[in-house]
Amino acid sequence: MLNFQGEHILSVNQLNRDSIEAIFSVAKKMEPYAKKQKRTKVLEGAVLANLFFEPSTRTRVSFGTAFNLLGGLVRETTGMQSSALAKGESLYDTARVISSYADAVAMRHPDAHSVAEFATGSTVPVINGGDGPNEHPTQALLDLLTIEKELSRFERKIDGMHIALVGDLKYGRTVHSLSKLLCHYKDVKFTLVSPDGLEMPDYILDAVTNSGHQIELVNQMEGNLAADIVYQTRIQEERFPSQEEANKYRGGFKISQAIYDAHCKPSSVLMHPLPRDSRGDANELDNDLNHNDNLAIFRQVQNGVIARMALFALTLGVENLVDKYETEVPWYSAKKNS
Ligand code: NCD
Repeated sequence: MLNFQGEHILSVNQLNRDSIEAIFSVAKKMEPYAKKQKRTKVLEGAVLANLFFEPSTRTRVSFGTAFNLLGGLVRETTGMQSSALAKGESLYDTARVISSYADAVAMRHPDAHSVAEFATGSTVPVINGGDGPNEHPTQALLDLLTIEKELSRFERKIDGMHIALVGDLKYGRTVHSLSKLLCHYKDVKFTLVSPDGLEMPDYILDAVTNSGHQIELVNQMEGNLAADIVYQTRIQEERFPSQEEANKYRGGFKISQAIYDAHCKPSSVLMHPLPRDSRGDANELDNDLNHNDNLAIFRQVQNGVIARMALFALTLGVENLVDKYETEVPWYSAKKNS
């Protein structure tokens, strides 16, 4: 099992079932802090450098919020053009510089393996917030935590579940990382629903098959969504060779309440890493699902904060000290009873 303290979290390949369960156990302890029922100052004085060289709303704010909720401070840079990388600085040098300011780094970058390259120059733990089409380990962890929690409502477990992954399975890094994490579980049935040309890469298919799971590859949603978990994705337009090429796929797989009623089970849980593309011609997850109790997309977001709090606590070695530095929440918080 990974000994988290001082380690970088760059890939889900570093994790096995014991380390996943260790993260989830710490994440669950973080819930009262995320819900503002209590506060902790365990990371008071610690600094997170939150470096986002690719567009992001929730991952960036979620990392920052997680660090703040543990009492730490956050410094950010956003965009390539506003950083010294645009002046030709290497990732190694940037890492040497940043790690002299910060106690931890969260980073997103458009190139595969760039975060690992950065980590070679960092003296503090680096957490991968997405490296191009390659991986998104913290999203995979929050997705898996969500799956576990959602299935428990139906007295089901990850072992033995049926998951349908839908959409851009070629460029979508979240489904790559999630599929790899699921290799540590037993008897999962995968239905991979993607348009021709956007299939899951072979190396992921091989990993899933070698873990003893069953895979079905299909190119239409009709008749293929009766799964415990239906995980929709966005066409990753920014990763296509041209916009014209991306446009061919836009709006191919729209899930609405009518599609849900016709093709999902009444208990199918709907997930999406977000952002969902809500432009009319894309509309991959319709707003008419917003009041469907099984739409878990905003619960995924909440699980993202506690999963990232857990990773910070573990990599900075304070996972057992969080309660010791606890204080009260004096202000009114609507979240308290949520
Ligand atoms: C995803 C990403 O960036 O890979 N978003 C996220 O981090 N929640 C998915 C996407 O952008 O489609």
